[in-house]
Amino acid sequence: MDSIENKKVLVKTFGCQMNVADTERMIALMGEQGMTPTENPGEADLIIINGCSVRDKAVHKAVSYLGEQQILKRGPNAKNPVIALGGCVGQLDKGDVFKRAPYLDFVFGPDAIDQLPELVHRAQSGQRHFVQVEFDKTLAYSTRTKVHGAKAQAFVNIMKGCDKYCTYCIVPFTRGREKSRTIREVLDDLAGLVEKGVREVTLLGQNVNSFGKGNPNTDGYEPRELNNPIGKVGPRAGEENFPQLLYAIDRDPRLARLKRIRFTSSHPLDFSDELIACYAPAEKGGVAKLARHLHLPVQSGSNRVLTKMGRHHRIEHYIAQMKRLKELCPGIGLSTDLIVGFPTETEEEFQETIALLDAIEYDNIYAFAYSPRPGTRASRMEDDVPGEIKNRRLNELLAHQLRIAKKTYAARVGQVLEVLVEGIAKNQNLIPEGGAGRVWTGRTSCNRVVNFIDDSPRNHLGRFLAVRITGSTSLSLSGELVHDPHFAERGDDGVQYTSSYSTSEVAP
Ligand code: SAM
Ligand code: SF4
Ligand code: F3S
Repeated sequence: MDSIENKKVLVKTFGCQMNVADTERMIALMGEQGMTPTENPGEADLIIINGCSVRDKAVHKAVSYLGEQQILKRGPNAKNPVIALGGCVGQLDKGDVFKRAPYLDFVFGPDAIDQLPELVHRAQSGQRHFVQVEFDKTLAYSTRTKVHGAKAQAFVNIMKGCDKYCTYCIVPFTRGREKSRTIREVLDDLAGLVEKGVREVTLLGQNVNSFGKGNPNTDGYEPRELNNPIGKVGPRAGEENFPQLLYAIDRDPRLARLKRIRFTSSHPLDFSDELIACYAPAEKGGVAKLARHLHLPVQSGSNRVLTKMGRHHRIEHYIAQMKRLKELCPGIGLSTDLIVGFPTETEEEFQETIALLDAIEYDNIYAFAYSPRPGTRASRMEDDVPGEIKNRRLNELLAHQLRIAKKTYAARVGQVLEVLVEGIAKNQNLIPEGGAGRVWTGRTSCNRVVNFIDDSPRNHLGRFLAVRITGSTSLSLSGELVHDPHFAERGDDGVQYTSSYSTSEVAP
């Protein structure tokens, strides 16, 4: 293989946390070959576009970024990096993109990530315009998380694929069928990460609450069976399941230094009574390390629209799930995904979505205008809500949410919350004119962003600190560091963290 030592790799990421985790894996794999990451395309020897195809706009962003890179291939002094298109955009492309972007070297899908060093080698040896988008056909899913650098947070894939086939969604076509890792393998993987300094994990999958389907529960984990009045399509009795995994993580002595477990995404189907019970206080049978936050996408507040979306549940059931959660875990931070302007959505049905925001009082919503995706069932329905109405509904929904969040965030003022510090805030405006110090940013267990000023030179990255909340907006909280005996200062166990994920920049 041509030596790629001392060469640089740039991975441009679009899309969800799954792509963020895939980018981390690509950088770690190329790091094992001697490459170091860069954010400057001008100095990169390898440029990978890790694209998202969930909406038309996302595909355009990836393709236009690709177009911007062609300059690097032209001219006598051009650096001539290897350029590859990957992620969900790569998966759906069967090579057509080479006609529009002949400077592109190769295309690959998410299941080919582990072959990346070999694919890069092929491109460096002169092969061009090849496509590697075969899905992995094996029944089992086994992997080991690769992280680059020292981080307190890690994304850990526990399953892949999606079997739900919501009528609007491209993901089952880009990520293939659902497959889960075994609980034993995930625990071993986490033990390795904790050893490297990881203190908060986000368990990843399109529907993590369907985790375990097809994997026999040979280790006898509890609870044996899941119940959900809405209906279930996930694991059966005798198979592994998601609550078993949460309890197993909570109890594994090798994971004592792991402080928080998050997960994303989940679906109201398979959001079982047993999973809801995990949110109870530990002394009442809950999972102690489970973050007090839930992102549970609902998509619409209208039963007719939910049916047309193929979501297979009624809105009353979802509201009942949320109410039970709030009772069990007061102060839980809730977030969701919503689509406006789905084919045939009426104004009254849109107002039902607005009413849902009032009923649940989310901390945060991710709202999208419907975008037809080729090959999906919804793409055969007439896209009859005009663009300007979709945009108006989107803006109305977001404005309504900001009013709700302003109230719920203000209710936090005065509380002392534990924050995992993610880095220096991009916006330093909190510092009064002539004031000293730096603004740091982090997240509470309930996933709220908290900014605070510290005028010491200490590096807080990756530390769990107690912050008294003194101010709020509709999007974040601000506060001051306190030394509260209930919150031992943690993260000070000798690990020097070098970077973090800026999760706030990633759309689900
Ligand atoms: N698996 C998760 C779930 O079940 O909700 C997340 C799926 S997707 C990666 C993230 C979000 O994108 C969805 O929850 C949905 O709100 C939105 N989305 C998916 N397809 C869309 C489409 N065709 N148009 C607009 N938004 C879409
Ligand atoms: Fe699967 Fe989520 Fe897409 Fe539905 S919205 S098909 S559950 S990834
Ligand atoms: Fe996009 Fe693929 Fe994620 S389509 S949202 S990157 S699974």
